[in-house]
Amino acid sequence: MITGKPLFTVEHIQNRVKELASKISEDYEGKELFSVGILRGAFMFFADIVKLIQIPMTIDFINVSSYAKTASTGEITVHTDLRDDIAGKHVLLIEDIIDTGLTLRHIREMLLKRDPASLKICVFLDKKSRRIVEVPLDYVGFEIPNEYVVGYGLDYENKFRNLPYIAIFKKDT
Ligand code: PRP
Repeated sequence: MITGKPLFTVEHIQNRVKELASKISEDYEGKELFSVGILRGAFMFFADIVKLIQIPMTIDFINVSSYAKTASTGEITVHTDLRDDIAGKHVLLIEDIIDTGLTLRHIREMLLKRDPASLKICVFLDKKSRRIVEVPLDYVGFEIPNEYVVGYGLDYENKFRNLPYIAIFKKDT
């Protein structure tokens, strides 16, 4: 079940997304971006932020999922890879949440081998206390406590992704 008040309301989210988009627009001025949404979780954050980034860009998606989140060897499955070549491009990975760091580390290492001109990471939620591997983060929306969160793309058993706000989820006991 969803508990209490939203952790982040729609307004709260939209304000922070605007701030992140302004900073990204400033940092990439004069360049062209290759924005990558990491599916499925990032679909909503991705759609919101790219609308506000004022830099010419192309977009692409990568669909991955992680398994065994408590093991440092956690397995990452790439269901669908990028469609385009990223060699020489300024790649910005856009992700909903970082937890252990295993997913982003895997994607980052995989994409760096393809020789992008640069590769930065923008993540909306950072559950820092759960980190197993370090990943350099360039843009972070909010740091959050070690709670299970749903909404704004984030799921519990693939549900609740469509909620426009972020809430804490507790399993019924
Ligand atoms: C979630 C989330 C991140 C990842 C973060 O994805 O969207 O990609 O977990 O966890 P990590 O830092 O511990 O690797 P999930 O594998 O649940 O797939 P989804 O995006 O399709 O929900």
